[in-house]
Amino acid sequence: MDLRLQAPQLAVDEATTLAPAEHAGRSVGRTGAERACRGHPLASADVQNALGAVQSLLVLGGSSDIGAAIAERLVPDGCRTIVLAGRRPEAMDEVARRLRAAGAAVAAVHWDAVDVGAHADAVKAAWDAAAADIDCVVLASGVLGEQSHLEDDPASAAELAVANYAGPVSTLLHVARRLGEQGHGTIVVLSSAAGERARRSNFVYGSSKAGLDAFAQGLADSLVGAGVRVVVVRPGFVRSSMTEGRDAAPLATTPAAVAETVAGAIASGKETVWVPGALRYVMAALRHLPRAAWRRVAANM
Ligand SMILES: NC(=O)c1ccc[n+]([C@@H]2O[C@H](COP(=O)([O-])OP(=O)(O)OC[C@H]3O[C@@H](n4cnc5c(N)ncnc54)[C@H](OP(=O)(O)O)[C@@H]3O)[C@@H](O)[C@H]2O)c1
Repeated sequence: MDLRLQAPQLAVDEATTLAPAEHAGRSVGRTGAERACRGHPLASADVQNALGAVQSLLVLGGSSDIGAAIAERLVPDGCRTIVLAGRRPEAMDEVARRLRAAGAAVAAVHWDAVDVGAHADAVKAAWDAAAADIDCVVLASGVLGEQSHLEDDPASAAELAVANYAGPVSTLLHVARRLGEQGHGTIVVLSSAAGERARRSNFVYGSSKAGLDAFAQGLADSLVGAGVRVVVVRPGFVRSSMTEGRDAAPLATTPAAVAETVAGAIASGKETVWVPGALRYVMAALRHLPRAAWRRVAANM
């Protein structure tokens, strides 16, 4: 199925079936379909409800366990329009089913992080599918890879770097432009504790996350005054599809815990969060270890 063709229709169909959201005394106003049909661009004041909660969300990496957990966490707080963007429609279907059951209108669009030439159209398709402003964009895509395979096959290592770094750079620049035009929005970037200091066991992945993390911080600085902010999220080991079959690291956590922290950061205005929070202090100490000592410590992480 070509989701690029399906997405706008999907969004209208789903939004049309959406009951007016009245959750915990919050109102989302007209549905996306009503706005689209009437041809009214959504004024930014309509988007954020009185408590500033996210009402419309784009998840880049729509089948990600952490991305799905964030979306599921935001629905009860009033998030009613969700666009999932990814390369595998069948994997996003299951996430969409759960979100619809929770009460959200959900659309899916095709987005491949490594297909840089298609990012402008993919971001446009996401906004068209939402038929409204998008309050929050979560970059939840990523590939961990097998370090030994990546070292044996440099082309695979380069592709991972594009998927985790260069592709998100391109996509988030398009996203930032759209949010800047709206004059409001939050970008949540799933970085990683692995980017804080390169480790022998996963330095291809870790270096791609270090690049993404630095980019996200600079993007945040570039958006000061534009009404758009960036939240950098640095989880440690999360029990998800990405880490399935691997031994859990110390301070291992869950997608639900990451989602809770992200929801808190969106609400409170925090710019950088670690999951679990204690990891901030652990990594602050570890990053200053002499390299030889770090090698010994990292070998056991
Ligand atoms: N799990 C951890 O321990 C951990 C720790 C720190 C940070 N993180 C970061 O958190 C984010 C979410 O990870 P997760 O644990 O939820 O893993 P996950 O369930 O494996 O999700 C990864 C997502 O990335 C998508 N993806 C991979 N390559 C893509 C591409 N070229 N184009 C579009 N989408 C692509 C996957 O889509 P497909 O379905 O198409 O494969 C999948 O939706 C990632 O950025 C990850 O690096 C994870």
